Parts: sequence; C-alpha cells; structure tokens
Amino acid sequence: MQFFIDTADIGQIREAMAMGMCDGVTTNPSLVAKTGKPFKTVIAEILDVVPGPVSLEVTTDEFSEMMAQARQLADLGDNVVVKLPLTKPGLRACRTCFDEGIATNVTLCFSPSQALLAAKAGATYISPFVGRLDDVSRDGMGLIERICTIYEAYDFETQVLVASVRHPQHVVEAALQGAHVSTMPLAVLEKMFNHPLTDIGLAKFMADWTKVPKE
Ligand code: E4P
Repeated sequence: MQFFIDTADIGQIREAMAMGMCDGVTTNPSLVAKTGKPFKTVIAEILDVVPGPVSLEVTTDEFSEMMAQARQLADLGDNVVVKLPLTKPGLRACRTCFDEGIATNVTLCFSPSQALLAAKAGATYISPFVGRLDDVSRDGMGLIERICTIYEAYDFETQVLVASVRHPQHVVEAALQGAHVSTMPLAVLEKMFNHPLTDIGLAKFMADWTKVPKE
C-alpha cells in the first residue's frame, strides 16, 4: 500500500519525506488556502521535494476551463496528477485526460456508482472520502469494500485512493480491503507509530541497559 500525505504544507511534507513514509502528496483548494501562499508557490515547493505522484486540483466545473487547467498543471511535472471533481464535466475531462496521457485523481467520491463511472472514464485514481461519510453516520469503509469488489471483478486499472482519512484504523481497514493508497494528514501518520507496549518495552530495555556493566 502506498502512503500519500494529504496536505499542501511543505513543512509537513518534508517531515513525512524524512520518515521515509511519503510516497506522494494530495492537495485540494482548502489545503492550499490554509498555507496562505499563492497556488504557484505551493506547487513549486511541493514538486521540488516530492518525486512521487502529486495531486493538484482544478478549480472549475466547466469542461473547457477544466481541460485548460489540467493541461497547464500536467505540464508542471511528470509526477503531476490532475485532480478532477466527480461531476459530468469532471468525468468528461477525465476521459479526455486519459486520451492525452494525463494522470487523474477523481475526487469527492461518495458512492459505488460514482466509482464505477470514474473507472469507466479511465481515472488513474478514485478518491472515496471515508471520513466525511462517517461524519454523517454512513459507512465509509463499507464504501471502500464495495469499490474494491467492483474494480476487482472487472480488472479496472483505476487505483483506490482512500481519502478523508481521520485515524490509523481507517488506514488499517483500507489495507485489509486491498486499497492501493491511503492519503492521510501527517498527524494520522504519526499516530500509526504509537503503541503503549512499545513505550513500556523501550523504557524497560533502556532501564535494564543502565544495569549492564560497561567494562
Ligand atoms: C483527498 O484528496 C482530500 O483532499 C482529503 O482527503 C479530504 O479530507 P477531509 O475530509 O479531511 O477534508
């Protein structure tokens, strides 16, 4: 399973890269807005340090404008993945990007039918938002299971990129379902390291080590 970091914050991306746990990055307009920096600056910073896939989102739902933005973004680097909304114009753009060899991440997916459409449109990645479904008392991980089942049944090449991840258990469940990628905030990645028995065990090893004669 690949781990992407879901942020536009270059400091957090650098931290995840230093951990050796950052296979790629996903951004969205809200995450870019949080940085307080111009979009071009944010993109340049990220592409400078991340060799893996970097999802950059279009900011329109009109087909021609979407394609103009998609081509501009794709020109910025071989690792750019154009993020498109799961709408009729978005999936039309997805098909056109596929024909032009532009990698895509279809975002804001909340149902198996939407995921099926994205695969048929040739999406490189589909991004189902598990946390936002859980937030409204729906079954986020159940959606991942259903998408994985459908994609496997038809050998779709679209990769399942589990998004809107809120905690380590989302990542574990996504892995159990065989999802290709989890994109997560740095805070979730950091929590994945934690186990109280690791802390207790390490403290004991360190304490016992002080009792070992050094000569
Ligand atoms: C992923 O590509 C999305 O931008 C992101 O995971 C959304 O997460 P949120 O629901 O925490 O905003």
